[in-house]
Amino acid sequence: MRRLCFLFVLLAGLVAAPLSAAPIVIKFSHVVAENTPKGQMANKFKELIDQRLAGKVVVEVYPNSQLFGDNKVLQAMLLGDVQMAAPALSKFESFTRSLQLFDLPFLFKDMAAVERFQKSEAGQKLLNSMKKKGLTGLGYIHNGMKQLSSSNAIRVPADAAGQKFRIMTSDVLAAQFKAVKATPLKKPFSEVFTLLQTKAIDGQENTWSNIFSKKFFEVQPYITESNHGLLDYMVVTSTEFWMDLPDDLRGEVKKALDEAITFGNQVAAQKGVDDRQKIIDSGRSKVITLSAEERAQWVEVMKPVWKEFEHEIGKDLIDAAYNSNNM
Ligand code: LMR
Repeated sequence: MRRLCFLFVLLAGLVAAPLSAAPIVIKFSHVVAENTPKGQMANKFKELIDQRLAGKVVVEVYPNSQLFGDNKVLQAMLLGDVQMAAPALSKFESFTRSLQLFDLPFLFKDMAAVERFQKSEAGQKLLNSMKKKGLTGLGYIHNGMKQLSSSNAIRVPADAAGQKFRIMTSDVLAAQFKAVKATPLKKPFSEVFTLLQTKAIDGQENTWSNIFSKKFFEVQPYITESNHGLLDYMVVTSTEFWMDLPDDLRGEVKKALDEAITFGNQVAAQKGVDDRQKIIDSGRSKVITLSAEERAQWVEVMKPVWKEFEHEIGKDLIDAAYNSNNM
């Protein structure tokens, strides 16, 4: 009888085991504040997964470079230490050259053109540009156009000459600053505030929401509203992790992510307006707007960068992106 009871307990345990299996954990690491388009998108993703897949999938969001900076996160992803991240498109250089496309200065006239290109066949194909290296792109998320902040008033390219600017890890961005005879320095996002505060660098380029949420405007007396380039992101995961997910869960996770991205893009559009205004209202930083003639000078000196990188990015891709301006 005792033996029978033991067998029963053992069998019951085996049957119950799959039901009580530990949930799949998705660690989502990013470098920005929570009150940003990407931060809000990641939190919304967590919220949707909590609502819909409780007990099956758990999303843990790590903002502010708490878990990994953007220079480490992709390697960590391949090792299985983190499952999702959304680095700026400028930060995939060591995995693919194609995404450098998005760094070309003055490529897109506005965010509607960016959206059209990203949704096009060519834009969607780029989500798979790192498959062979073990990374799968799950979608794009917007932040917005970059502005130039500095310790000096900058109106025309000659004003930037000789200054040191922090850039993301992108050779295109380096070439863009070299084109105006400035010195680019590739540094992680987490170091930018201190570099500016201690005057180790003169300036940096970023969006209104990053300049506001990381308080760069408090240590940069001038911001030139140049809209000279794009800061957008790709949500990526390890292909191995993604393909190992059960089909039904993968579909649900992707659906929640798509909805979170739509939400994040709305936040991006709103923050581009609101955070700009908050910076102006603070009186800490003077926003310089450019005349058409001044802007034309920037385009003239920076646009040759396109030709410089055409062989790496591909002329067809550049043409496809540029043509999205005229649709
Ligand atoms: C930067 O490094 O300036 C940005 O990529 C930060 C971010 O993720 O928006």
